[in-house]
Amino acid sequence: MTNCSKRKISGHLPIAVSLVLAGCTGSQSTLDPAGQEAAEVHHLFVVMVIGGGFIWLAVIGLLLHSCRGQRQTWSEEGAGRLIAWGGVAFPGVVLFALLVYAVWLMPSVRPWLARTVPEPTQIEVTGEQFWWRIRYPAEDGVAGFETSNELRLPVGERVAFSLRAADVIHSFWIPSLGGKMDMIPGRTNVLSLLPTRTGVFKAPCAEFCGTSHTYMAFSVVVMEREAYDDWRRKQASGHQPEGSEGERLFIHHGCAACHSVRGTTPVAALGPDLTHFAERETVGAGTLANTRENVGRFIRDPSAIKPGAQMPAFDMVPQGEIAAISEFLAGLR
Ligand code: CUA
Repeated sequence: MTNCSKRKISGHLPIAVSLVLAGCTGSQSTLDPAGQEAAEVHHLFVVMVIGGGFIWLAVIGLLLHSCRGQRQTWSEEGAGRLIAWGGVAFPGVVLFALLVYAVWLMPSVRPWLARTVPEPTQIEVTGEQFWWRIRYPAEDGVAGFETSNELRLPVGERVAFSLRAADVIHSFWIPSLGGKMDMIPGRTNVLSLLPTRTGVFKAPCAEFCGTSHTYMAFSVVVMEREAYDDWRRKQASGHQPEGSEGERLFIHHGCAACHSVRGTTPVAALGPDLTHFAERETVGAGTLANTRENVGRFIRDPSAIKPGAQMPAFDMVPQGEIAAISEFLAGLR
């Protein structure tokens, strides 16, 4: 190897290492846990990597030693002992210990843990092609409400999710908070998670569910209890009809037949609830940033952005009217 190419590699190495490590943190990483269950998965991963690393080093060490050392003949008894200890006993004990540890981490093996916490917050999440319907129950005098594609949770409190699917199998997964669980039509699966720090996290659908599976994500905002209660009170309330042009067109063009804007339109439950749409980070369940321009693009032709989306194209609606509807949605705080 020339000096030049050595220098090139040593120059690129820190960049490569930092790129690899950058993948370990962030809003969608199991290696940067923000919840109790994710921390346990992370711990298991670290134990496996370190344990596996030591075993790998020991095997490589023995291999190098055997290549260098003097050749010696083994008695049949000595070779048998080596195989019994190195090939049966050692991997048997190590693998069994790892299995016990991994099984121990499963919540169903430790059901008494669930009983030590007070009744957790219950949230119902339904996977639909290709978005998330989220229902919060009535709690502390605040009425229950429906929202979509954005989950908010109180920090330090256990949450129980009732997971359903309206059409095909989807999978619910918030990598920063814990493991995934399938959402199966005709079944209700329950997943319990405990967020341990505040922040905004991303959650992709983790089961192929059709052409826009990739464009089916939601965001998770973990907040302090007080801010969470304020948010809940606000979500439970609707709007007063404002009488704007955008509001009129939203109803006139039939948007309100599928989407609810509580207080303004009759209840419709086919598409995502848009009551507080302007507060969400994205449009199209994690597909685009929530800007007026992107909302307009989505209304004009949803399938161009999100193939297979159930919402029809509204490209026959004049540009100015789409802009007015986007303006109306941008005001729904
Ligand atoms: Cu829903 Cu993939």
